[in-house]
Amino acid sequence: MTDELVGKVAIVTGGASGIGRATVTKLVAEGGKVVMGDLDPERGAEAIAEHGDAVVFLRTDVSDPAQVEQLVEHAVRTFGGLHVMVNNAGIPGKMHPSLLLDDLGDFHRVLGVNLLGVMAGTKFAARHMAEHGGGSIINVSSVGGLQAGGGVQTYRASKAGVIHFTKSAAIELAQYDIRVNCLAPGNIPTPLLTTSAAGMPPDKVERFAKAVRASMNNDRPLPREGEPEHVADAVVYLAGDRALYVTGTVLPIDGGTTAGKPLKKPEERKPAEQNSAEPSAMSRVNVSGPVTR
Ligand SMILES: NC(=O)c1ccc[n+]([C@@H]2O[C@H](COP(=O)([O-])OP(=O)(O)OC[C@H]3O[C@@H](n4cnc5c(N)ncnc54)[C@H](O)[C@@H]3O)[C@@H](O)[C@H]2O)c1
Repeated sequence: MTDELVGKVAIVTGGASGIGRATVTKLVAEGGKVVMGDLDPERGAEAIAEHGDAVVFLRTDVSDPAQVEQLVEHAVRTFGGLHVMVNNAGIPGKMHPSLLLDDLGDFHRVLGVNLLGVMAGTKFAARHMAEHGGGSIINVSSVGGLQAGGGVQTYRASKAGVIHFTKSAAIELAQYDIRVNCLAPGNIPTPLLTTSAAGMPPDKVERFAKAVRASMNNDRPLPREGEPEHVADAVVYLAGDRALYVTGTVLPIDGGTTAGKPLKKPEERKPAEQNSAEPSAMSRVNVSGPVTR
């Protein structure tokens, strides 16, 4: 640890679970104070129990801009400022067997959380930062926002929107020394990977989760599993002074998924720690279309 965030205040939306929760832990470990904005107060309380005074929780629905504005005000009131805004909260929406069967009923909910939530978080954080010497805004998109593929089209559209919005905001907010960057995680085991199966019988959810993971593993060149902490480390980098010259970027954290198809099938790859640099066989994985998230 470098204590590089001592004296900094951060907000993490969706901080109660998965990538957000790992991010809260890393920001606190670097000396930061964190306000978590999430729908889930129970898991929020767990984080407070773990980190004590360094973390506070405010129940927030990011799809409601008024609540996001209150979240920013709460951070400033509680810790005296706001330097880092992590717009991480996201939902996948329902998985439909086919676009033809999508009733579009999910559209407003998914876009409301994934895109409007990010836009509101950026706007209200930037309003404060612009008058207080700048800051760092980190939006969480997805490999699904970079790559087309079958399934969860509404999610993909929302995450693609986050990428374009991030770049546009970076250009406009640079004059205030506010940096705006975007992370595109892929294949990180968190509850999100089964959220879109909600409502299915438990055995189906399990089969669904296995199928999603298998498909995503097929797409990933690196032989190691992704972890929420891998994404959280990138947040720490973008939040701190090591990234002072970095804005408007999209950083995939996906084991190479968006770089291209792996040369070997997962079962042919050696475990990461034994891996040598030997050239691979020509055993390309035949994936019909990534189910990337
Ligand atoms: N896990 C992956 O492989 C993966 C891949 C690509 C992108 N992402 C993105 O990473 C982000 C975090 O996802 P995760 O995998 O940690 O999922 P997760 O389900 O573990 O966590 C999401 C958190 O967001 C909160 N949340 C949901 N709706 C909210 C709302 N309206 N207002 C406030 N909070 C809300 C949930 O309560 C939860 O705590 C999301 O934006 C997701 O799209 C994840």
